[in-house]
Amino acid sequence: MKTLDWIVTDDGQCQTRPATREWDLIEEHYYLHRFLTEVIDLLAQVKHEADEWDHLPQLRRLVRKLIINSYYVRTQFLEPCSKTGSSVLTLYDEIGYPLTVQNVTFAPGLVSPIHNHGTWGITAVLKGQEKQTFWRRVGDPDFPNKIEPIGEKIISPNEIVSFAPDAIHCVEAIGDEPTVSFQIYGDTQPRSRFFFDRETHTAKPF
Ligand SMILES: [Fe+2]
Repeated sequence: MKTLDWIVTDDGQCQTRPATREWDLIEEHYYLHRFLTEVIDLLAQVKHEADEWDHLPQLRRLVRKLIINSYYVRTQFLEPCSKTGSSVLTLYDEIGYPLTVQNVTFAPGLVSPIHNHGTWGITAVLKGQEKQTFWRRVGDPDFPNKIEPIGEKIISPNEIVSFAPDAIHCVEAIGDEPTVSFQIYGDTQPRSRFFFDRETHTAKPF
């Protein structure tokens, strides 16, 4: 199956990037803890947190390596919550640890709020298909958080999407089955990630 990598820039452009071939990434005994160590070692070389997202090509490669080699990561997920339609299984979390690593399940048809992450992020679809919609600020001086959609893309397993900290998007689970995606995010800065309201042209922290 063809592998595809994408990056979504701060202004919502979704651009293709070279993806590493699967057979170059096959490695025996590549477990979640080895992935986490490699990510932390990579980020430790970065002098300023703002430069972390310059390392997205290497981070996407590590995510692909993990998903190819880790049966555990590919198969750990929750059923969607009957009330909210989504569930989050935290794969690793430690106080003071600068990463969020999780498998997220969406019921068919569920649409996320429009949001950014305030840090770099990478998502890889494990099951099903999701539609990503990308947004950008229109530059209205009266409503700095007024946004407009500028593109969308259907993401399938084997595709990896990476996000700049200010990339604004929403996600819809399409098809008849729940979708599951592996997601990893850098350290979120306070008051840097927002939900955007299309009707009122405002944003509120989350
Ligand atoms: Fe997101």
